[in-house]
Amino acid sequence: MEELALHDTFAVTRAGSPTLVDGELHVWAVPLTGDAERLGANLSKAENQRLSRFHFADHRRRFQIGHGALRLILAGYLGCGPADVEFAAGPRGKPFLAAPGPHFNLSHSGKLALIGVSKTEVGLDVEKVRRLDSLTEIARKHFSPSEFAALDALQGEARELAFYRCWTRKEAYIKALGEGLSMPLDVFDVSLCDEPRLVAIRDGKEDAAKWSMLDVSPGPEFVGAAAMRALGVRVQRYRLADA
Ligand SMILES: CC(C)(COP(=O)(O)OP(=O)(O)OC[C@H]1O[C@@H](n2cnc3c(N)ncnc32)[C@H](O)[C@@H]1OP(=O)(O)O)[C@@H](O)C(=O)NCCC(=O)NCCS
Repeated sequence: MEELALHDTFAVTRAGSPTLVDGELHVWAVPLTGDAERLGANLSKAENQRLSRFHFADHRRRFQIGHGALRLILAGYLGCGPADVEFAAGPRGKPFLAAPGPHFNLSHSGKLALIGVSKTEVGLDVEKVRRLDSLTEIARKHFSPSEFAALDALQGEARELAFYRCWTRKEAYIKALGEGLSMPLDVFDVSLCDEPRLVAIRDGKEDAAKWSMLDVSPGPEFVGAAAMRALGVRVQRYRLADA
């Protein structure tokens, strides 16, 4: 099986072993390279219908592992079987548990899925770092003026890293709110530096001082961020043992 380089702060852990307490965010890294059939066996009818619409075998495999692992991880917190986990979705498609249980959010990029689980609503995004010829154009289109100015002061690898930090931090915030593409991206600012931060929110709907932005980058090739409307969040990092 293909080995995916992850930071060793992500401790190999079985689903069901960690206990989730208030104020914690559990971040699970799931390499999408394992046994697709075993993890995919617990998918629901609706998930299998989605699966059948993928054209490429590799996309099918990633979906089976990612969503099978999501079921396995959530079942560990709920104390039920993976096939018994039931989902519902918010108005813009954000999935949540139909029965009482923790909040969660999933993101995938390349051969990795990252899943955040918390007692507080959470948004999480991971991106595999790759060379982007259109980096400046994407940033000009999606970043706020102050974010773009911060990016534009940088060159080379520092510029690339800042771009991915900004992208994942912005995405984590809109995913926490469940807003998806409906939300204007220039009404809030995130930091681009080492210290992740929601700097300002200008639409009058949220108070940036009440939010935490967290670096949950799982490995050297990835940048990851999580956003929660909570302060003093403690992050526990796991690599799913069964994937
Ligand atoms: C779903 C969305 C919120 C994120 O999409 P993405 O970054 O392509 O994908 P990710 O892998 O990070 O997340 C996808 C997962 O988020 C979850 N999700 C779906 N809708 C969601 C929503 N409205 N809010 C939060 N999470 C959502 C699902 O679990 C989904 O997994 P699935 O597709 O396998 O079922 C997308 O609709 C979106 O809004 N993208 C914004 C893109 C953009 O312009 N970003 C600019 C940042 S500067």
